[in-house]
Amino acid sequence: MPVLKEIAAYAEELVEIRRDLHEHPELGMEELRTSAIVAKLLKSWGITVHEGIGKTGVVGVLDGKQAGRTIGLRADMDALPIDEKTNLPFASKTPGVMHACGHDAHTTMLLGAARYLAQTQDFDGQAVFIFQPAEEGLGGARAMLADDLFGRFACDEIYGMHNNPNGRPNVVGVKPGKAMAGADFFDITIKASGAHAARPHESIDPIVIATSLVQQLQSIVSRNTPPTEPLVLSVTQIHAGSAYNVIPSECTISGTVRFFDPELIATVRERMQALCDGVAKGYDVEVVLDSRNTFDVLVNNEQLSQVMLDIAADVVGSENVEVMTKVSTGSEDFSDMLQVVPGAYCVVGHEGTLPLHNDGFILDESILPVGASIYARLIEQRGVGPQ
Ligand code: NI
Repeated sequence: MPVLKEIAAYAEELVEIRRDLHEHPELGMEELRTSAIVAKLLKSWGITVHEGIGKTGVVGVLDGKQAGRTIGLRADMDALPIDEKTNLPFASKTPGVMHACGHDAHTTMLLGAARYLAQTQDFDGQAVFIFQPAEEGLGGARAMLADDLFGRFACDEIYGMHNNPNGRPNVVGVKPGKAMAGADFFDITIKASGAHAARPHESIDPIVIATSLVQQLQSIVSRNTPPTEPLVLSVTQIHAGSAYNVIPSECTISGTVRFFDPELIATVRERMQALCDGVAKGYDVEVVLDSRNTFDVLVNNEQLSQVMLDIAADVVGSENVEVMTKVSTGSEDFSDMLQVVPGAYCVVGHEGTLPLHNDGFILDESILPVGASIYARLIEQRGVGPQ
Protein backbone atom coordinates (compact mmCIF):
# COMPACT_ATOMS: atom_id res chain seq x y z
CA MET A 1 0.00 0.00 0.00
CA PRO A 2 1.50 3.36 -0.97
CA VAL A 3 0.52 6.73 0.48
CA LEU A 4 -3.14 6.64 1.55
CA LYS A 5 -5.24 7.83 -1.39
CA GLU A 6 -7.35 10.19 0.72
CA ILE A 7 -4.15 11.87 1.94
CA ALA A 8 -2.65 11.93 -1.57
CA ALA A 9 -5.79 13.79 -2.67
CA TYR A 10 -4.94 16.76 -0.47
CA ALA A 11 -1.16 16.59 -0.70
CA GLU A 12 -1.15 20.05 -2.32
CA GLU A 13 -2.97 21.49 0.68
CA LEU A 14 -0.38 19.94 2.98
CA VAL A 15 2.32 21.70 0.96
CA GLU A 16 0.44 25.00 1.41
CA ILE A 17 0.15 24.50 5.17
CA ARG A 18 3.82 23.62 5.43
CA ARG A 19 4.97 26.60 3.34
CA ASP A 20 2.89 28.99 5.43
CA LEU A 21 4.44 27.60 8.63
CA HIS A 22 7.87 27.81 7.01
CA GLU A 23 7.35 31.44 6.09
CA HIS A 24 6.35 32.29 9.68
CA PRO A 25 8.71 30.34 11.95
CA GLU A 26 8.54 30.79 15.73
CA LEU A 27 11.11 29.95 18.39
CA GLY A 28 10.44 27.51 21.23
CA MET A 29 7.68 28.54 23.65
CA GLU A 30 6.75 31.37 21.28
CA GLU A 31 4.72 29.23 18.85
CA LEU A 32 1.57 31.33 19.23
CA ARG A 33 0.70 31.68 15.55
CA THR A 34 1.62 28.07 14.80
CA SER A 35 -0.40 26.60 17.65
CA ALA A 36 -3.38 28.82 16.75
CA ILE A 37 -3.30 27.47 13.17
CA VAL A 38 -3.02 23.90 14.46
CA ALA A 39 -5.95 24.38 16.85
CA LYS A 40 -8.09 26.04 14.18
CA LEU A 41 -7.51 23.29 11.63
CA LEU A 42 -8.14 20.49 14.14
CA LYS A 43 -11.40 22.15 15.22
CA SER A 44 -12.46 22.62 11.60
CA TRP A 45 -12.25 18.84 11.17
CA GLY A 46 -14.37 18.20 14.28
CA ILE A 47 -11.51 17.20 16.57
CA THR A 48 -11.66 18.14 20.26
CA VAL A 49 -8.85 20.59 20.99
CA HIS A 50 -6.99 21.36 24.23
CA GLU A 51 -4.72 24.40 24.06
CA GLY A 52 -2.04 25.85 26.31
CA ILE A 53 -0.55 22.53 27.44
CA GLY A 54 3.13 23.18 28.13
CA LYS A 55 2.50 26.86 27.36
CA THR A 56 2.02 26.73 23.58
CA GLY A 57 1.36 23.02 23.13
CA VAL A 58 -1.87 21.74 21.56
CA VAL A 59 -3.53 18.34 21.99
CA GLY A 60 -6.29 17.07 19.71
CA VAL A 61 -8.44 14.09 20.70
CA LEU A 62 -10.49 12.03 18.26
CA ASP A 63 -12.58 8.98 19.12
CA GLY A 64 -12.84 6.07 16.72
CA LYS A 65 -15.94 4.11 15.78
CA GLN A 66 -15.72 1.86 18.80
CA ALA A 67 -13.79 1.50 22.03
CA GLY A 68 -10.18 0.43 21.87
CA ARG A 69 -6.72 1.56 22.82
CA THR A 70 -5.44 5.13 23.02
CA ILE A 71 -2.54 5.94 20.72
CA GLY A 72 -0.58 9.19 20.91
CA LEU A 73 1.17 10.77 17.93
CA ARG A 74 3.57 13.61 18.50
CA ALA A 75 4.98 16.38 16.29
CA ASP A 76 7.20 19.32 17.24
CA MET A 77 6.42 22.90 16.14
CA ASP A 78 9.42 25.14 16.93
CA ALA A 79 12.02 26.76 14.69
CA LEU A 80 15.66 27.71 15.29
CA PRO A 81 17.55 30.99 15.78
CA ILE A 82 19.11 30.83 12.30
CA ASP A 83 19.00 33.39 9.48
CA GLU A 84 17.58 31.53 6.48
CA LYS A 85 19.71 31.47 3.31
CA THR A 86 17.66 29.20 1.03
CA ASN A 87 16.25 31.87 -1.33
CA LEU A 88 13.02 29.87 -1.44
CA PRO A 89 9.95 31.91 -2.44
CA PHE A 90 8.44 30.93 0.92
CA ALA A 91 11.61 31.54 2.97
CA SER A 92 11.29 32.84 6.50
CA LYS A 93 9.88 36.35 6.80
CA THR A 94 11.20 36.57 10.35
CA PRO A 95 14.87 37.62 10.34
CA GLY A 96 17.04 35.33 12.43
CA VAL A 97 14.44 32.55 12.75
CA MET A 98 14.18 29.54 10.45
CA HIS A 99 12.56 26.13 10.25
CA ALA A 100 15.97 24.55 9.67
CA CYS A 101 15.05 21.23 11.31
CA GLY A 102 11.83 20.60 9.39
CA HIS A 103 9.47 20.83 12.35
CA ASP A 104 7.11 22.73 10.01
CA ALA A 105 6.87 19.47 8.05
CA HIS A 106 6.39 17.33 11.16
CA THR A 107 3.49 19.55 12.26
CA THR A 108 2.00 19.34 8.77
CA MET A 109 2.30 15.54 8.62
CA LEU A 110 0.43 15.15 11.90
CA LEU A 111 -2.25 17.58 10.70
CA GLY A 112 -2.55 15.49 7.54
CA ALA A 113 -3.12 12.33 9.57
CA ALA A 114 -5.63 14.06 11.85
CA ARG A 115 -7.64 15.30 8.89
CA TYR A 116 -7.71 11.84 7.31
CA LEU A 117 -8.78 10.10 10.52
CA ALA A 118 -11.48 12.71 11.19
CA GLN A 119 -12.74 12.19 7.65
CA THR A 120 -12.73 8.40 7.59
CA GLN A 121 -13.56 7.73 11.28
CA ASP A 122 -12.61 4.17 10.41
CA PHE A 123 -10.55 3.18 13.43
CA ASP A 124 -10.99 1.79 16.92
CA GLY A 125 -9.96 3.45 20.15
CA GLN A 126 -8.80 7.00 20.51
CA ALA A 127 -6.23 9.10 18.66
CA VAL A 128 -4.34 11.74 20.65
CA PHE A 129 -2.54 14.29 18.47
CA ILE A 130 0.26 15.94 20.45
CA PHE A 131 1.67 19.16 18.99
CA GLN A 132 4.68 19.98 21.13
CA PRO A 133 6.49 23.30 21.56
CA ALA A 134 10.18 23.94 22.09
CA GLU A 135 11.92 20.73 21.09
CA GLU A 136 15.24 22.48 20.38
CA GLY A 137 16.67 22.33 23.90
CA LEU A 138 14.04 24.51 25.56
CA GLY A 139 12.15 21.74 27.33
CA GLY A 140 8.87 21.57 25.43
CA ALA A 141 8.26 17.88 26.14
CA ARG A 142 8.99 18.33 29.84
CA ALA A 143 6.66 21.36 29.94
CA MET A 144 3.82 19.28 28.50
CA LEU A 145 4.58 16.44 30.94
CA ALA A 146 4.57 18.94 33.82
CA ASP A 147 1.09 19.94 32.65
CA ASP A 148 0.09 16.30 33.20
CA LEU A 149 -0.03 15.41 29.50
CA PHE A 150 -0.37 11.68 30.03
CA GLY A 151 -2.49 12.02 33.17
CA ARG A 152 -5.05 13.94 31.15
CA PHE A 153 -4.61 11.92 27.95
CA ALA A 154 -3.64 8.43 29.07
CA CYS A 155 -1.95 6.88 26.05
CA ASP A 156 -1.15 3.18 25.73
CA GLU A 157 1.55 3.85 23.13
CA ILE A 158 3.15 6.92 21.54
CA TYR A 159 4.95 7.48 18.26
CA GLY A 160 7.03 10.29 16.78
CA MET A 161 9.08 10.91 13.66
CA HIS A 162 11.75 13.16 12.18
CA ASN A 163 12.79 13.94 8.64
CA ASN A 164 16.31 12.92 7.67
CA PRO A 165 18.06 14.68 4.79
CA ASN A 166 21.04 12.36 5.20
CA GLY A 167 18.97 9.26 4.62
CA ARG A 168 17.83 7.55 1.45
CA PRO A 169 14.59 9.07 0.08
CA ASN A 170 11.44 7.57 1.56
CA VAL A 171 13.37 5.04 3.59
CA VAL A 172 12.04 4.76 7.14
CA GLY A 173 14.41 3.72 9.90
CA VAL A 174 14.01 2.89 13.58
CA LYS A 175 16.81 2.08 16.02
CA PRO A 176 15.37 -0.30 18.64
CA GLY A 177 16.46 0.26 22.24
CA LYS A 178 18.82 3.13 23.03
CA ALA A 179 18.70 5.29 19.92
CA MET A 180 19.67 8.88 20.65
CA ALA A 181 21.89 10.47 23.26
CA GLY A 182 20.91 12.13 26.48
CA ALA A 183 22.30 15.65 26.82
CA ASP A 184 23.52 17.98 29.51
CA PHE A 185 24.05 21.66 28.70
CA PHE A 186 26.64 23.47 30.84
CA ASP A 187 27.96 26.96 31.59
CA ILE A 188 31.17 27.57 33.51
CA THR A 189 31.84 31.07 34.83
CA ILE A 190 35.40 31.99 35.83
CA LYS A 191 35.36 35.00 38.13
CA ALA A 192 38.95 36.33 38.13
CA SER A 193 40.51 39.80 38.21
CA GLY A 194 41.08 42.19 35.30
CA ALA A 195 43.91 44.63 34.62
CA HIS A 196 45.77 46.54 31.88
CA ALA A 197 46.98 44.09 29.24
CA ALA A 198 50.47 45.57 29.50
CA ARG A 199 50.62 44.70 33.20
CA PRO A 200 49.30 41.10 33.33
CA HIS A 201 50.94 40.43 36.69
CA GLU A 202 48.36 42.74 38.26
CA SER A 203 45.54 40.52 36.96
CA ILE A 204 44.37 36.98 37.43
CA ASP A 205 43.70 36.33 33.76
CA PRO A 206 40.46 34.37 33.20
CA ILE A 207 41.30 33.71 29.53
CA VAL A 208 44.47 31.80 30.41
CA ILE A 209 42.48 29.85 32.99
CA ALA A 210 39.62 29.17 30.56
CA THR A 211 41.84 27.85 27.78
CA SER A 212 43.57 25.55 30.24
CA LEU A 213 40.21 24.35 31.59
CA VAL A 214 38.92 23.59 28.06
CA GLN A 215 41.91 21.30 27.51
CA GLN A 216 41.39 19.62 30.87
CA LEU A 217 37.70 19.01 30.09
CA GLN A 218 38.74 17.09 26.96
CA SER A 219 40.65 14.67 29.17
CA ILE A 220 37.38 13.44 30.72
CA VAL A 221 36.28 11.60 27.58
CA SER A 222 39.79 10.55 26.59
CA ARG A 223 41.03 9.46 30.03
CA ASN A 224 38.18 8.93 32.51
CA THR A 225 35.62 6.93 30.53
CA PRO A 226 35.88 3.64 28.62
CA PRO A 227 36.77 4.10 24.93
CA THR A 228 34.15 1.51 24.02
CA GLU A 229 31.32 3.71 25.36
CA PRO A 230 30.09 6.55 23.12
CA LEU A 231 30.37 9.91 24.86
CA VAL A 232 30.83 13.47 23.62
CA LEU A 233 31.92 16.59 25.45
CA SER A 234 31.96 19.67 23.23
CA VAL A 235 32.83 23.19 24.34
CA THR A 236 30.88 25.39 21.94
CA GLN A 237 31.21 28.91 23.36
CA ILE A 238 33.87 30.99 25.09
CA HIS A 239 32.96 34.56 25.96
CA ALA A 240 35.28 37.17 27.45
CA GLY A 241 36.84 40.51 26.80
CA SER A 242 36.02 43.82 25.13
CA ALA A 243 39.32 45.44 24.04
CA TYR A 244 42.86 44.77 22.80
CA ASN A 245 44.45 46.19 25.90
CA VAL A 246 42.21 44.99 28.69
CA ILE A 247 42.47 41.68 30.54
CA PRO A 248 38.85 40.98 31.47
CA SER A 249 37.61 39.99 34.90
CA GLU A 250 35.36 37.18 33.80
CA CYS A 251 35.18 34.44 31.19
CA THR A 252 32.38 31.96 30.50
CA ILE A 253 32.66 28.56 28.82
CA SER A 254 29.58 26.74 27.55
CA GLY A 255 28.89 23.45 25.84
CA THR A 256 27.15 20.12 25.89
CA VAL A 257 27.76 16.53 26.94
CA ARG A 258 26.08 13.66 25.01
CA PHE A 259 25.75 10.28 26.70
CA PHE A 260 23.93 6.94 26.68
CA ASP A 261 24.77 5.58 30.12
CA PRO A 262 23.49 7.10 33.38
CA GLU A 263 26.54 5.91 35.35
CA LEU A 264 28.89 7.42 32.82
CA ILE A 265 27.23 10.83 32.87
CA ALA A 266 27.44 10.77 36.67
CA THR A 267 31.21 10.27 36.31
CA VAL A 268 31.43 13.11 33.78
CA ARG A 269 29.53 15.50 36.06
CA GLU A 270 31.82 14.61 38.99
CA ARG A 271 34.97 15.08 36.92
CA MET A 272 33.78 18.41 35.51
CA GLN A 273 33.16 19.68 39.03
CA ALA A 274 36.54 18.39 40.22
CA LEU A 275 38.40 20.09 37.36
CA CYS A 276 36.54 23.37 37.98
CA ASP A 277 37.38 23.14 41.69
CA GLY A 278 40.99 22.35 40.79
CA VAL A 279 41.53 25.43 38.63
CA ALA A 280 39.67 27.55 41.18
CA LYS A 281 42.13 26.48 43.87
CA GLY A 282 45.18 26.56 41.60
CA TYR A 283 44.54 30.07 40.28
CA ASP A 284 42.79 31.48 43.36
CA VAL A 285 39.59 32.39 41.52
CA GLU A 286 35.94 31.46 41.76
CA VAL A 287 34.73 28.94 39.17
CA VAL A 288 30.99 28.26 39.02
CA LEU A 289 29.74 25.21 37.10
CA ASP A 290 26.07 25.21 36.10
CA SER A 291 25.18 21.93 34.39
CA ARG A 292 21.60 20.99 33.47
CA ASN A 293 20.22 17.78 32.09
CA THR A 294 18.27 18.85 29.00
CA PHE A 295 17.38 15.61 27.19
CA ASP A 296 16.93 12.05 28.39
CA VAL A 297 18.42 9.18 26.41
CA LEU A 298 15.88 8.24 23.74
CA VAL A 299 14.94 4.58 24.21
CA ASN A 300 12.65 2.98 21.66
CA ASN A 301 10.60 0.07 22.94
CA GLU A 302 12.05 -2.99 21.17
CA GLN A 303 8.71 -4.55 20.25
CA LEU A 304 7.05 -1.29 19.22
CA SER A 305 10.07 -0.40 17.07
CA GLN A 306 9.25 -3.41 14.91
CA VAL A 307 5.56 -2.54 15.01
CA MET A 308 6.36 0.95 13.70
CA LEU A 309 8.58 -0.44 10.94
CA ASP A 310 5.93 -2.97 9.88
CA ILE A 311 3.31 -0.22 9.69
CA ALA A 312 5.69 2.09 7.80
CA ALA A 313 6.26 -0.78 5.36
CA ASP A 314 2.55 -0.60 4.51
CA VAL A 315 3.22 2.88 3.15
CA VAL A 316 6.77 2.84 1.75
CA GLY A 317 7.17 -0.87 1.01
CA SER A 318 9.03 -3.50 3.00
CA GLU A 319 12.17 -2.86 0.93
CA ASN A 320 12.22 0.71 2.25
CA VAL A 321 12.24 0.12 5.99
CA GLU A 322 15.33 -0.60 7.99
CA VAL A 323 16.29 -1.57 11.50
CA MET A 324 19.02 0.93 12.30
CA THR A 325 21.97 -0.45 14.22
CA LYS A 326 23.92 2.68 15.14
CA VAL A 327 23.02 5.13 17.87
CA SER A 328 22.91 8.86 17.13
CA THR A 329 24.79 11.34 19.33
CA GLY A 330 22.08 13.84 18.48
CA SER A 331 19.32 14.36 21.04
CA GLU A 332 15.56 14.61 20.83
CA ASP A 333 13.16 15.43 23.62
CA PHE A 334 10.52 12.91 22.56
CA SER A 335 12.82 10.82 24.78
CA ASP A 336 11.19 12.47 27.82
CA MET A 337 7.75 11.29 26.71
CA LEU A 338 9.10 7.79 26.00
CA GLN A 339 10.23 7.63 29.64
CA VAL A 340 6.54 7.72 30.59
CA VAL A 341 4.75 5.85 27.80
CA PRO A 342 6.23 3.10 25.60
CA GLY A 343 6.58 3.81 21.93
CA ALA A 344 8.96 4.38 19.07
CA TYR A 345 10.49 7.13 16.98
CA CYS A 346 11.42 6.80 13.32
CA VAL A 347 13.33 8.84 10.78
CA VAL A 348 12.08 9.38 7.25
CA GLY A 349 14.78 9.92 4.62
CA HIS A 350 14.43 12.55 1.90
CA GLU A 351 16.24 14.31 -0.92
CA GLY A 352 17.90 16.99 1.14
CA THR A 353 21.33 18.23 0.15
CA LEU A 354 22.28 20.00 3.37
CA PRO A 355 22.12 18.78 6.95
CA LEU A 356 19.53 19.70 9.54
CA HIS A 357 20.23 23.05 11.28
CA ASN A 358 22.10 24.38 8.20
CA ASP A 359 20.93 27.85 7.07
CA GLY A 360 20.44 26.47 3.55
CA PHE A 361 18.48 23.36 4.63
CA ILE A 362 15.67 22.51 2.19
CA LEU A 363 13.10 19.88 2.99
CA ASP A 364 11.77 17.55 0.30
CA GLU A 365 8.01 18.07 0.53
CA SER A 366 7.25 14.69 -1.06
CA ILE A 367 7.60 13.17 2.42
CA LEU A 368 4.58 15.10 3.75
CA PRO A 369 1.93 12.58 2.62
CA VAL A 370 4.30 9.72 3.50
CA GLY A 371 4.64 10.85 7.11
CA ALA A 372 0.92 11.62 7.36
CA SER A 373 0.07 8.14 6.04
CA ILE A 374 2.38 6.40 8.52
CA TYR A 375 0.85 8.37 11.39
CA ALA A 376 -2.65 7.51 10.18
CA ARG A 377 -1.88 3.81 9.78
CA LEU A 378 -0.44 3.70 13.32
CA ILE A 379 -3.84 4.75 14.67
CA GLU A 380 -5.75 2.35 12.41
CA GLN A 381 -3.58 -0.60 13.38
CA ARG A 382 -2.75 0.06 17.03
CA GLY A 383 -6.09 1.39 18.26
CA VAL A 384 -7.65 -2.06 17.93
CA GLY A 385 -7.81 -4.01 21.17
CA PRO A 386 -9.13 -4.02 24.72
CA GLN A 387 -9.21 -0.67 26.48
NI1 NI B 1 14.40 18.49 14.88
